[in-house]
Amino acid sequence: MNIDKKLRLGILGSGKGSNMVAIAEAIANGSVPAEIALVLSDVADAGILDRARGFNLPARFIAPGKFRTKLDEEAEAAYIAALREAGVELVVLAGFMRILKGEFLRAFPQRVVNIHPSLLPAFTGLEAWKQALDYGVKFTGCTVHFVDQGVDTGPIIAQQTVPVLSRDDEQTLHARIQIAERQLYPLAISALARGLVRVEGRKTVTVSQQ
Ligand code: GAR
Repeated sequence: MNIDKKLRLGILGSGKGSNMVAIAEAIANGSVPAEIALVLSDVADAGILDRARGFNLPARFIAPGKFRTKLDEEAEAAYIAALREAGVELVVLAGFMRILKGEFLRAFPQRVVNIHPSLLPAFTGLEAWKQALDYGVKFTGCTVHFVDQGVDTGPIIAQQTVPVLSRDDEQTLHARIQIAERQLYPLAISALARGLVRVEGRKTVTVSQQ
């Protein structure tokens, strides 16, 4: 493998963009052999777009269409076309709050990853930190995984634990999980960019560097 080759990332987000910033910073300091080719959002005024432009990255809003929790057919085609045009090799979901299925996953087979704010398979779906707090677990965390046809069910690439403290509320726990996310996501993307992650059935294995 050519070690000078940089994996081209397309980052999709709907929110503040703190994970995108962590990835951009890790690339800038040389620890992730990748480049961000495009940042896309389904929210016109999302912080992630402003923050991407602050790094001089191409950043675009693409309207999601008529549905609330997924992209409609036209929007899905527009996302796929924009990512292909930008030569994206790995799609990185960073707080993208819509489910991607079917056509999109077929366009990027085993090339879509997500970060989820819990230790999967616990607490899939929305507000996973609130679910953890309500359930009363003593540890939660975050998970980087490949995206498959289910919701938060794809092969797990990496996980990091975070303690739940008695005094936690939703905000403090989510903030602690997000600190872990900003460490874990760049590490996982670095391993992917170096070709060190192999999928075996529903598991991934990390192969050692030659
Ligand atoms: C992150 O905490 C991420 O885990 C969560 O959205 C937040 C985005 O923050 N994603 C999900 O809940 C996906 N189910 P950011 O915009 O600051 O990176």
